[in-house]
Amino acid sequence: MQERSSVADLANQLRSELDRYSPGGKLPSSRALVDRFRVSPVTVSRALAQLAAEGLVVTRPGAGAFRARPRPSATSGGDTSWQEVALSADGAADLVPRSVDASGVLVSLAAPPPGVIEFNGGYLHPSLQPERAMAAALSRAGRRPGAWGRPPMEGLPELREWFARGIGGAITAAEVLITSGGQSALTTALRALAPPGTPVLVESPTYPGMLAIARAAGLRPVPVPVDADGVRPALLADAFRATGARVFVCQPLFQNPTGAVLAPERRGEVLRIARAAGAFVVEDDFVRRLVHEDAGPLPAPLAADDPDGVVVHVGSLTKATSPSFRVSALAARGPVLERLRAIQVVDTFFVPRPLQEAALELVGSPAWPRHLRAVSAELRARRDAMTSALRLHLPEISLPRIPSGGYHLWPRLPEGTDETALTAAALRAGVAVTPGRPYFSAEPPAPHLRLSFAAVAGTGEIAEGVRRLRTACAEAGGRRG
Ligand SMILES: Cc1ncc(COP(=O)(O)O)c(C=O)c1O
Repeated sequence: MQERSSVADLANQLRSELDRYSPGGKLPSSRALVDRFRVSPVTVSRALAQLAAEGLVVTRPGAGAFRARPRPSATSGGDTSWQEVALSADGAADLVPRSVDASGVLVSLAAPPPGVIEFNGGYLHPSLQPERAMAAALSRAGRRPGAWGRPPMEGLPELREWFARGIGGAITAAEVLITSGGQSALTTALRALAPPGTPVLVESPTYPGMLAIARAAGLRPVPVPVDADGVRPALLADAFRATGARVFVCQPLFQNPTGAVLAPERRGEVLRIARAAGAFVVEDDFVRRLVHEDAGPLPAPLAADDPDGVVVHVGSLTKATSPSFRVSALAARGPVLERLRAIQVVDTFFVPRPLQEAALELVGSPAWPRHLRAVSAELRARRDAMTSALRLHLPEISLPRIPSGGYHLWPRLPEGTDETALTAAALRAGVAVTPGRPYFSAEPPAPHLRLSFAAVAGTGEIAEGVRRLRTACAEAGGRRG
């Protein structure tokens, strides 16, 4: 209560002083505000976040807070209210109403307020990204002959070849299309395979960004439960029978959010069930390169073992590099490849050639395997640090699975925990976490959190973040009781 009113007081005070700074000018540092107003760093970051939400201040991680520049529409005095009518055009004729909601995606993309520990990030912390190698690759790429010309629409042959080799099996470069990050590859795949109004089978729980793609395309996600060994084949077969779906989206390796790996005996079964239903399996192989140091040998992608073209494979470089290194691949065999190619060309033409050239430079450099080894060791250390800190400070939350790849844990919360209240309490305590609800396309069986250990600065921040989470749990638990 006290914390909330001091946030509001500080926000009011800062709001009234804003015209002391020129538009774009830097505000005093968080430390200076802590000293001057005698409040905690969390209060300062919450007050700045409040002003940022009002559009008065812009915060840049590592650089500070700045007075926002006026937006052109605010000064031009136009009236945009007509758009509300235009944008609510009648969708009654749609079998499944389309809804475009970016909130599930933004949780892992938005920078948290200054001072808040980022347990909700979906990408590597800058210190883990191969920044030097990427910069060198980009500069070498820019000087390659023809680097700024038009690439082949399907992507550079050598890059297609590199992705095909990574998938293995019988997949060839001719069956690979270069795309602009996993998100856009999944969008292309769903648009190619499922007409609006139709059902699409999804794992439950699953990545909210994929659910958002499905809903924006007017598809109806139908959940199929995942257990410790991945999707449950009998329920998958039931769901195909009950819905007549022609697509199932699956993450067989280090599933987001559960971390499950599809068990060897289920791999063939999933493909057989889909084949019998006349359906495609979209394989989202999003973190194959974020394997932890202590993992055993990885199973091959499903696409490597798929002579009949059931699998449409998605692989992306972003998770092992940076969210801005938006290079990915779609791989498929049979007539569906032409459908995917056509949609990709109609929607985006092609991935910028300099970025494709940079990807080739990066993955061909000696720095690449070194980077992957370093990330693998660091992720293992971070996973272990988070696991031990949670076991020590929050024994009441259970960790059914400790993954050996990927960048997060998926703890189950005590029955009756209000995830929304806990997430809000955590933010007040200075740690941003992701609630479990958006990962379920129907009612969830239990409350969960998703806790990422990749986006923070290191194990020190993990320990501090878990302590803050304990404070939040005590506050939320106190309210519950
Ligand atoms: C399971 C999964 N698939 C795909 C993506 C998309 O990633 P990108 O578009 O950066 O490749 C994400 C991002 O969080 C994800 O978690």
